[in-house]
Amino acid sequence: MTKEDGESFRKLKELNEAIEVHDEKYYKHAHPTISDQEYDRLKRELDSLQAQIDPLGLFSSDEVGVTESKQGENLVQVGDDRLEGFSSHQHLAPMLSLENTYDKEDFFEFDQRLRKIFNSNALPYAVEPKIDGVAISLTYQNGELITATTRGNGNSGDIVTQNILHIENLPKKISGSSVPELVEIRGEVFMSHEEFHRINEEREALGQSLYANPRNLAAGTIKLLDPKSARKRKLEIVLYGLGHCEPRGYFREQSAFHDALKKWNAPVVEFFKKVSNADEAWQSIILLDEARHAYDYPTDGAVIKLDSLDMQARAGTTSKAPRWAIAYKFEAERQSTLLQDIIFQVGRTGTITPVACLQPIQLAGTIVSRASLHNADEIDRKDIRVGDHVVVEKAGEIIPQVLQVELDKRQGSAPPFIFPLNCPCCQTELIRIEGEAAWKCPSYECTDQVKARLAYFSSRGCMDIENLGESVIKQLIDKQLVVKISDLYELQEKQLLTLDGFAGKSAQNLVDALLASKAQDFWRLLCGLGIKHVGTAAAKDLVRHFKTLDNLAAATLEDLIAIDGIGETMAESITSFFRSEFNQSEIEKLKTHGLCVRSNESTIDLFLRNKIFVLTGSLTRQTRDEAIEKIETYGGKVSSSVSKKTTFLVAGPGAGSKLSKAESLGIEILSEDQFESMLQHT
Ligand code: IVH
Repeated sequence: MTKEDGESFRKLKELNEAIEVHDEKYYKHAHPTISDQEYDRLKRELDSLQAQIDPLGLFSSDEVGVTESKQGENLVQVGDDRLEGFSSHQHLAPMLSLENTYDKEDFFEFDQRLRKIFNSNALPYAVEPKIDGVAISLTYQNGELITATTRGNGNSGDIVTQNILHIENLPKKISGSSVPELVEIRGEVFMSHEEFHRINEEREALGQSLYANPRNLAAGTIKLLDPKSARKRKLEIVLYGLGHCEPRGYFREQSAFHDALKKWNAPVVEFFKKVSNADEAWQSIILLDEARHAYDYPTDGAVIKLDSLDMQARAGTTSKAPRWAIAYKFEAERQSTLLQDIIFQVGRTGTITPVACLQPIQLAGTIVSRASLHNADEIDRKDIRVGDHVVVEKAGEIIPQVLQVELDKRQGSAPPFIFPLNCPCCQTELIRIEGEAAWKCPSYECTDQVKARLAYFSSRGCMDIENLGESVIKQLIDKQLVVKISDLYELQEKQLLTLDGFAGKSAQNLVDALLASKAQDFWRLLCGLGIKHVGTAAAKDLVRHFKTLDNLAAATLEDLIAIDGIGETMAESITSFFRSEFNQSEIEKLKTHGLCVRSNESTIDLFLRNKIFVLTGSLTRQTRDEAIEKIETYGGKVSSSVSKKTTFLVAGPGAGSKLSKAESLGIEILSEDQFESMLQHT
C-alpha cells in the first residue's frame, strides 16, 4: 500500500473510528446506537478493506488507522467494558472474543483449517447457542463462589459480585465429587424477554424512554454502582465455558465439562449437541435456528467448539479469538412489506407515538402487523411515507423496527409524511417540550389519555383490579360513566349492566373487585395515581418515609430531595402533582371512598436510616441476601465498596482488602454477632 492510496486509506480510518465509537457505546455504556448486524457489517467491511490495501500486513496499525488495545496490554484485544468505580480482577485465563461469521462457507473453512492442523478427516465438535447477554466469569475456590467479574479488556475485568448475587439461579456453591480446587466458569448473564417487557412497560407508563433490547438492559444492570437498584431487575445466568482450572487437565472435553455443570445443578444451555464432524455440526446449527425462538434468552447464533480441550489448547488463539471455536450468527429476520397506514397512540402522559400499520408478515416466529416508528424525527430521517414498501427487522430488539424504505418500489409521488399538528384524539394543538423528541397532547381531559391513565391505575403493577381491563375502561369512558379515577368508586351495578358483555354476574364481579381494591397497599395507590417519574420503587420508598398520603402531600421539595433515590426532577413532579386543585379533590374523594392511604408497616422503626453498610467475608448465620434484606427493612443501605461514606463494615471470616481499607479509614467494624445484636435492639 502506498500512502497515495488516499481514498481507501481515508475510508479505512473512517471505518476504524466509527467502530471505536460503537465499541465504546456498546461495551462501556451498554447503549449502542446501531444494531448488532449493522456493527458486524462495519467490521466485515473493515477487514476486507484492510486485507485489500495491506494484504501482507506490512504497515503498522497506526498507519492504517487501527488502534491497538487502549490499555497497552497487547496480550488480548477485545472491546473494553471496564468502568470507573469498580475494583479490578485479573482473569487467570483470558476472556476472548469469538470469530463471527454469517457465511456457511466460512464455517466449513474453519473446519478445514482445523482438520489440516490435526491432519484428520473429521473432528468432533460441540454445538451450543450463542447467548446474547453479558459475559461473566465466576471464580470458585473449593466449590465456593468468590468473585464474579465482567470480561473487561479480556485480561482483567470489573468485580460485579454484589450486583449479581441476587440472581436466583446463580450457583453460590458447587458441590459433589468432581469439584476442582479452583475453577473459572464462564457464562452469560441475561434478562428474559418477559422481564425486559415488564421493565419497559413500567417505563412506558412513566413516560420514560424505552430500553432497546434485553442485552443492553442486562449489561446496564450489572454495571449499576448501587446493588440495591440492580436487585430490582431480574437477571438470570447460564454457564457454558471453562477458564482456568486447577488441577490442570481436570476436564478433557467441552461435553464432559457441560455434563459436570449439569451434575452441579448449575444452569446450562438447553441446546447442546456433541457431533462427530462438520456436516453434523451444520445440521445442529439448522436445528438450533429453529428451536431458539422458544428459549428464554436472546440467541443470535451458534457457537461451534472443538470438543477436545487438549486439541483446543493445541489449536491455540489469536490475540482476539480462539482458533478452536467460531460463532455462526443467524441473520436477523427481515422482510419487506407494505406500509398501509401510520396511526398514533396517545399515552398516559400525552406522548404521541407514531405506529406503522403493516400488511401482516411472518417474522421470527410471529405475525407482525405493527412496528414502532418512535417519533417524528425518525419518520423524517428515513423519509417514510404511507404506501411505501418498507424493510422490517426483528432482531434482539423484539419490537419490530422499520429499517428503511425501498425507494425503488415507491410508486408515483406519494407526498412526504406530515406529522399532525393536533391531537388525533381530542384535536388539541400538540406541543413539543424543548430537548425532547416526542410531541405531546397538553390536554388533561383528552379521552385517550384518560383511558390510558385508568388502564394504568387498574394494571397489575398498580391497583391490580380484576375485570377492569382496557376494553371495559374504553366502554366506561365512551359511555361517560367515568371521566376520572374517583368515578370508578361511584359505579353502580345497574350502570355496569349497560356495558357490552356484562350480565348480572360480571357486573357484580367488577363491583366486588373495586371494593376489594380499596384495601390494596398504599404504595399501589400511589403508583396508580400516575405521578410523573414515580414508579413502583419510588412509590415504596415514599410510603416508607412518609407513611401517609397526607404527610406526603405536605412534603416540601427539600423534604423529598433529602430522601435517597429521589432526585430534583421527581421531587418537583411530586410537589406539582399535589399543588393541583384537581388532584387535591381526587385525593379527598378517594379518601372518602375508603381507599388505603397509609403504610401498613408504620410500626417499623427505620433506625438504620442514613447508615451505609458494606458486607465482606462469609456470613454464617444468614445468607448475604438475608442480611441485605434486614438492613434495608430498617432503612439502611448496602454498598459494594468501602469509602469514607461507609458507616459499618460487617466482616466475616475470609475478609480481605475491604477490611484493611475500612480499618485505614477508621470505619466501625462489626462481626456478624455484633451485627445481629444491633438488629435485636429494635
Ligand atoms: S465460548 C474464547 N460459548 O460470545 C471465547 N461464548 O462474541 C469462548 N457467548 O465473549 C467463548 N454464548 O460472552 C462461548 N455458548 C457460548 C456463548 C459465548 C455467548 C459470548 C461470550 C463471548 C462472546 C463472543
